Amino acid sequence: MKTTASLRKMKQQGEKIAMLTAYDYPAAKLAQEAGVDIILVGDSLGMVVLGYESTVPVTPADMIHHGKAARRGAHDTFLVVDMPFGSFHGSLDRTLETAIRIFQETGAEALKLEGAGEVIDVIRRLTQTGIPTVAHLGLLPQSAGVIGGYKVQGKTADAAKQLIEDALACEAAGACMLVLECIPHQLAEQVSARLSIPVIGIGAGSGTDGQVLVYHDTIKYGTHHIPKFVRSYTEAGTAIREGLQLYVDEVKSGAFPAEEHRFSMKEEELSQLYG
Ligand code: KIV
Ligand code: NA
Repeated sequence: MKTTASLRKMKQQGEKIAMLTAYDYPAAKLAQEAGVDIILVGDSLGMVVLGYESTVPVTPADMIHHGKAARRGAHDTFLVVDMPFGSFHGSLDRTLETAIRIFQETGAEALKLEGAGEVIDVIRRLTQTGIPTVAHLGLLPQSAGVIGGYKVQGKTADAAKQLIEDALACEAAGACMLVLECIPHQLAEQVSARLSIPVIGIGAGSGTDGQVLVYHDTIKYGTHHIPKFVRSYTEAGTAIREGLQLYVDEVKSGAFPAEEHRFSMKEEELSQLYG
């Protein structure tokens, strides 16, 4: 099991950190078996497993439900759970209550929150409470409505300066790690160099301390749009579709079940049955 300290050490030693989302027992188990360093129960589950149009409808109860399932599949992997939309703004006391509930009930190693600004205070408060906190800057899917879609962030010098400031503020507030989503690779490299906490990129080039991808994108499973910055390593969706089609065909044709799939009664029992 990695720790916030050993992950920091990986950064120092230039050992890349592999992070992957997972939202249930089998996926987390497979991720752990593949040797991922960190499993993220991301609120992307709203889109890839619950079929919502965005991450906005996802609730703390959803995160707890999936977080617990992922935990059961990967007891030995550093588990991060997202705080969903609307659960960490406004009252700090309410935020803390929600965070404690998600942290305790899922048994996660850390929670992740999108954004800076007032979120910096939340990072500080959670860290003081004993909850390791992962920051998330760049493209913030929970704010897609405000930004006007899912767009690359930090492309202008001003935006890049602001992002660097925000990243430093996250680290100063006690964040144990930072996720950078969809920003120019030069900016991601710069932020990674300036921070001593691990910086994990998605759509942020190869200069970060590690990478994170969405499980369903990585194995091409599902019908959602796959972004440009993803590499899919297998075609799970195609394999599943073909398998299911074959099952339906064989039930219809009678090819399934075959003799090896059935149970039998002994002859003597049969003769008594028929008299
Ligand atoms: O929810 C998620 O999957 C994420 C990653 C894209 C970093 O936050
Ligand atoms: Na997320």
